[in-house]
Amino acid sequence: MTPASPRLLGDTAQGGSVLAFYSPKGSPRPPRIDRGEGVYLWDADGKRYLDATAGAVVANIGHGNPHVLAAMKEQAARVSFAYPRFFESEHNIALADRVCALAGEGFDRAFFISGGSEANESALKLARQYAVVSGQASRWKVISRNPSYHGSTLGALAVTGDAHTQSIYGPMIKSMPKVSAPMSYRIPDGHTQESHAMACAEELARTIEREGPESILAFIIEPIGGLSTGAVVSSSAYFERVRQICDRHGVLLIYDEIMSGAGRTGEFLAAHHWRAARPDMVTLAKGLAAGYTPLGCLLAPNRIVDAVAGQGGFVHGHTYFTNPLSCAVANAVMDEVERLDLVTRARERGESLRRRLEALAERSPLVGDVRGLGLLSAIELVADKATRRALPPAFNAPSKLTAHGLRHGIALYNRRANLGAFGDFQMITPPLTISESELDELVEKLERTLTDLADEVTRSKLA
Ligand SMILES: Cc1ncc(COP(=O)(O)O)c(C=O)c1O
Repeated sequence: MTPASPRLLGDTAQGGSVLAFYSPKGSPRPPRIDRGEGVYLWDADGKRYLDATAGAVVANIGHGNPHVLAAMKEQAARVSFAYPRFFESEHNIALADRVCALAGEGFDRAFFISGGSEANESALKLARQYAVVSGQASRWKVISRNPSYHGSTLGALAVTGDAHTQSIYGPMIKSMPKVSAPMSYRIPDGHTQESHAMACAEELARTIEREGPESILAFIIEPIGGLSTGAVVSSSAYFERVRQICDRHGVLLIYDEIMSGAGRTGEFLAAHHWRAARPDMVTLAKGLAAGYTPLGCLLAPNRIVDAVAGQGGFVHGHTYFTNPLSCAVANAVMDEVERLDLVTRARERGESLRRRLEALAERSPLVGDVRGLGLLSAIELVADKATRRALPPAFNAPSKLTAHGLRHGIALYNRRANLGAFGDFQMITPPLTISESELDELVEKLERTLTDLADEVTRSKLA
């Protein structure tokens, strides 16, 4: 084992000088990362892990891509940083043109920042400033869904539907209205998945009426859920109804595609799966720079940006917005996405992974549901498949699964939403570059990991 640094103090989970994130005191230290190549990561002891979730659904083009590393080195040698208020950057312009072209009609302008939470903060603030400059200053409330996840900064948390984070940070946050997110596996009695989704859309209509339409600025959703719902996919009818409701009341519709965008679902935007309903703004991050640099993006139409630009400009910014190094790196990542045709690959490998996961669900007593689109997929873990009974939240199945996975050489990202109140999910979201034989290895290692968890469930007498 790698020796602990002498600087580490006390017995916190991850050592004294490192803040322990999500790790209760006494939990084992994670392996220390050494290097990555393709879909694999190696720790400092030389052990190899298959990166089954692309980290936090980030490493879309895999690790150690030589083309991206070369572009990074070249740009860093020319200039890493030049503040955008003084200098424009060739790579910023190229990346904006490219991302807007891939996003298609209605997405004319791109604003680059350092990550997903910053992208959502930017979307909420651009929406608000647009309302102010267009004579609608009474609009400020942003409706979102429960459960949902939109980031960890205070503005993004205000629209995140998670009772646990609310219980800690709630007093510091402006409370925003929430409506139910359509679920697909645990749906209320007397409903089909479709009728439940339409009831959720009607709840949006009622909430707007109740709150006062003139006060509602926007509705923000994850078009395909991430860890908040475990990759729930809704029907076109749901998105179309939501669009109608927003149009009727002049409410902006924002898709948070931080996890689902940049090709992961088999289209550049998840929004492209339901073209009859188009959002007004989209946020991206994660796969856009695929972990080679921190990067987020807000896509918006001319009509919004021009209205704000015409009245003094967007009163918002961050030190690293549109920085040349990150934009050059993301351009190189997008070159690889195009060269390797990774959006098509995500669709094809997604179907292939899904067949394997459905077969695994037949064999495993713990896998109650398999869902998702492209390579944004998840399995739902249950105590009883017949009744769909969830594992007790206190058992914390996801963190146990991660620990078993590391022993079996498979890295499984987890961030527990709502303390498991809506069920326990495991995202299965490998790099889009994964091969068929690597998919076989992923499912084989996942099965061994699930078998260990099933033994633990039996020992705990939970099943
Ligand atoms: C849907 C969604 N929105 C927002 C975020 C926040 O992004 P970041 O962690 O880059 O701030 C995430 C991160 O997991 C996410 O999945």
